[in-house]
Amino acid sequence: MSIAVPEPSTESPALPDFLTIEEGDFVIHRLGSKTFRLDKTKARARLAGKQVINGQRSAELNILPLKYHEAYRIYKQMKANHWEPDVIDMTRDSQQWNTGALSSKERWIIEMGVGYFSAAEGIVGDSVLHVIEDNLTAAELKHASLRHIAEESIHMDSLLHIIGSLNIDLDEVTAKFTDIPSVQKKNAFITRQMPELKMGIDLTKTVNKQRFAKAIFGITQVMEGTQFYALFAMILSLHRQNKMTGIGQMFQYTLRDESNHIELGRYILTQLIAENPDLWTPEFRAELVEFMREGVELEKEFVRDCLPEDGVGMTQIDFLTYVEYNANRRLAGVGLPTLSNVSSNPFTWLDEVIFLRKEKNFFETRVTEYQTSGSLKNTAEDDLI
Ligand SMILES: [Fe+2]
Ligand SMILES: [Fe+2]
Repeated sequence: MSIAVPEPSTESPALPDFLTIEEGDFVIHRLGSKTFRLDKTKARARLAGKQVINGQRSAELNILPLKYHEAYRIYKQMKANHWEPDVIDMTRDSQQWNTGALSSKERWIIEMGVGYFSAAEGIVGDSVLHVIEDNLTAAELKHASLRHIAEESIHMDSLLHIIGSLNIDLDEVTAKFTDIPSVQKKNAFITRQMPELKMGIDLTKTVNKQRFAKAIFGITQVMEGTQFYALFAMILSLHRQNKMTGIGQMFQYTLRDESNHIELGRYILTQLIAENPDLWTPEFRAELVEFMREGVELEKEFVRDCLPEDGVGMTQIDFLTYVEYNANRRLAGVGLPTLSNVSSNPFTWLDEVIFLRKEKNFFETRVTEYQTSGSLKNTAEDDLI
């Protein structure tokens, strides 16, 4: 049977070249292969009005002239990783899930993954939309954040694909997870400060700038950057053992997206601090470190719930160390002191999954996935070699 295969993307994942030169009354702005001619006076006025917060707002397409080049570069990087959940073959996962091929410990990890991320992806998407993007004023920062939000929708969709493919009772999963204290605490920890920020606050006041900065740090560095990774690693460890490889492949793509979200969050936060040095007081820096410390403690409690004892090829202490490793690199990434001396990754194989294959194009690999759809060949495992 022949299967229609969508045309592979012709877009190059190469990052754009940025060039701005002045020529007479115009500013020539080059973005990758495209060249834009801007009126010099208007371009200068628009550039002068651009700030992370409290800048000029406009409904026009005023990404140009670019002030925050790095945001556009990260946007291109995010787009180069585009993927679609519902074309990931789940035949093998469904067989393993429904024929008793998994141990109770393995099933529990998958249930925790589905249960936790079903809520968490939505919390991130909603918070980036109503707290971060809403308060940003520079168009290229808003533009990149909108891509971030869209990717959270893809992640939510991937959970639906998993739940539908395995025939899991959605209400049962939801009910089960609202009763787990470590999950409740993790979600409450990150959402408790959001309601006021969603209402719109006066960002000319230092105390409110700090609340906004803390929200960016909380969503992108504590939650996405630290509290997502241990469970991702558990599921990708099962993937390495040839178990639930469709889910593993989706989590691999998701994790790659998350690394871009963390990078974007770090960039916005550092630009915000550079433009508003009044917020970066010693007291506020200490508050962020304490915030991360609390996030780490909650995450360790969650890890102990996901993997109560060693087994299924995993050791609990490695995951607890991994939590500290991630927290430390997020803190260091924004110039804050680390919480411990853990500086190396206990899962070097995971680094390879995330970083070395970062440029892999979903559309190029999709042909192979279509060709093997319905067979038991594990193409997803090829990704980890
Ligand atoms: Fe996500
Ligand atoms: Fe994310």
